[in-house]
Amino acid sequence: MSERLEDIAVAMVANGKGILAADESSGTIKKRFDVIGVESTADSRRDYREMMFRTTEAMTKYISGVILYDETIRQTAADGTPLVELIKASGAIPGIKVDAGAKAIVNFPGDTITEGLDGLRERMAEYYKLGARFAKWRAVIDIDTTKNVPSAYSLSANTQALARYAALCQEAGIVPIVEPEVLMDGAHDIDTCYDVTKATLVKLYDELYAARVVLEGTILKPNMVISGKKATKKASAEEIAEKTIKLFRETVPAAVPGIAFLSGGQSDEEATANLNAINAIGPHPWKLTFSYGRALQAAPQKAWSGKVENLAAGQAAFTHRAHMNHLAALGQWKPALEKAA
Ligand code: 13P
Repeated sequence: MSERLEDIAVAMVANGKGILAADESSGTIKKRFDVIGVESTADSRRDYREMMFRTTEAMTKYISGVILYDETIRQTAADGTPLVELIKASGAIPGIKVDAGAKAIVNFPGDTITEGLDGLRERMAEYYKLGARFAKWRAVIDIDTTKNVPSAYSLSANTQALARYAALCQEAGIVPIVEPEVLMDGAHDIDTCYDVTKATLVKLYDELYAARVVLEGTILKPNMVISGKKATKKASAEEIAEKTIKLFRETVPAAVPGIAFLSGGQSDEEATANLNAINAIGPHPWKLTFSYGRALQAAPQKAWSGKVENLAAGQAAFTHRAHMNHLAALGQWKPALEKAA
């Protein structure tokens, strides 16, 4: 495969393909395993992820890349094959989460800043050697209008960190996924999400220009414009699609090859239906696809539940969700296809 940043970015959003976000930190995957009653050990984490990466149909037809956690990019399958090699053998591109998580900002209660820039140049060089050709950095933007969250200071600090990270990625020959996640945890309505996401993306592209990041060699990983989970009125898929696209047309340059959404706490089917509605109102200047964590993995985790005898069921559940999201990335998904499964 070409090593040019622009070509890697285009391959990450190839027609009908999307990204598997399997980069849960050890703390987060433990929470997911707690739900299915599986003890989180280096081996159980490896077994689970190996099951996914060996799901040939999903990996070869619907998945363009996999975001890994530091532990996983160094792990080998039970038979000794490096997990990175399993991913590459399927034709997907290995990626790596490089941020060190969101920490409270002094003097700004409710706001967080994502850390991890120290030593990043050296870590990037190592990840490249380990096979990573793209990376991810997630900034976390909460919404609490009663507390002036997010502050302008938080947007400034977080987007500057994203731009510095993106420049370091490109220096190392690695495509940066820039992820400013505006959380859907609150009771805010869809228009508040629109306003906060707009302020975030305007600032983000200011900072990416200022840092001389080559936009053609980046992928944006945003939230959809969506109502908060506790909102009294829930926006429809059509409204989500219309407002999300209106916002991106105002803020995301057409030089960006692709936008790969996070699922952010939407149910599996909502995340698929909303992506489908977005693509159904195309054509758009960029590819719009998925980079889902929970919305791709909740079903296979439940089907697997840590048991060897459930490996095929876990793989079938992964294939189904990847297939549904593949159709949504093409604007060809229908609810009836879920019921047929
Ligand atoms: P979710 O799809 O579960 O939001 O995870 C995607 C991701 O990588 C968040 O950083």
